[in-house]
Amino acid sequence: MNLKSLEPRLQTVLEWVPNGVHADIGADHAYLLGNLLGQNRILRGIAVEKNQEPFELACKNLEKFGSRAEARLGDGLGPLAAGEVDSISICGMGAGLMVKILQAHPERVPDQVITQPNDSAEPMRRWAWERGFHVKQETLTLGFWHYPVLHFERKTGEDPSYAGLPLDVAFRFGPHLLKRKEPLLLDHVLQQQKRLTQLEGTGNPKVQRDLDCVRSALEILQK
Ligand SMILES: C[S@@+](CC[C@H](N)C(=O)[O-])C[C@H]1O[C@@H](n2cnc3c(N)ncnc32)[C@H](O)[C@@H]1O
Repeated sequence: MNLKSLEPRLQTVLEWVPNGVHADIGADHAYLLGNLLGQNRILRGIAVEKNQEPFELACKNLEKFGSRAEARLGDGLGPLAAGEVDSISICGMGAGLMVKILQAHPERVPDQVITQPNDSAEPMRRWAWERGFHVKQETLTLGFWHYPVLHFERKTGEDPSYAGLPLDVAFRFGPHLLKRKEPLLLDHVLQQQKRLTQLEGTGNPKVQRDLDCVRSALEILQK
């Protein structure tokens, strides 16, 4: 395993994983976990894989870490016990599937959750808001497109990062990204505005709602 070649999206996840016992759900080849262990960033790692072939690849790649690493075959958080890990990561899937995985075993979700959805992060932010997690940090990373990476932390009370923002707009585009006027987000929102403006006037209510959301985001980003 090449320990130096993580894509920017996984490199960001790696940097945000806290030291402790970590599980990577949908680990595939276990490159992320191998790098976390190889760089001594975590005490112990568990790779969870639903499919046999990547599971075997993960077993092989983690062998050299001995008792510090383990691969488990199973669905989502199914192979984990409640309280067994300090943090989890879920990367490279759609946000809808990630939310399903988290909702299937809410009692097994640890206090720290780091995700990298391949599409809009909105379902993840809505899940966090409803389930008592705050957005600790979020960014966009370069790759085939701009991949969001989000770090959620279980906390009491309302997430202060949303203060002063229209909720629907912040769920869609990200409270931290909007507040710090993330340049990659501005590019993305301008592209959306262009695409939606071409569809305006077709009478599709979703287009109008999306366009309203995009215009609100631009007001914040360009203020
Ligand atoms: C596209 S790959 C992403 C791999 C890696 N996490 C990354 O970001 O590069 C998705 C992986 O998740 C696994 N997977 C999908 N659904 C899963 C589930 N419910 N539980 C565990 N693994 C799952 C797939 O078998 C596949 O290896």
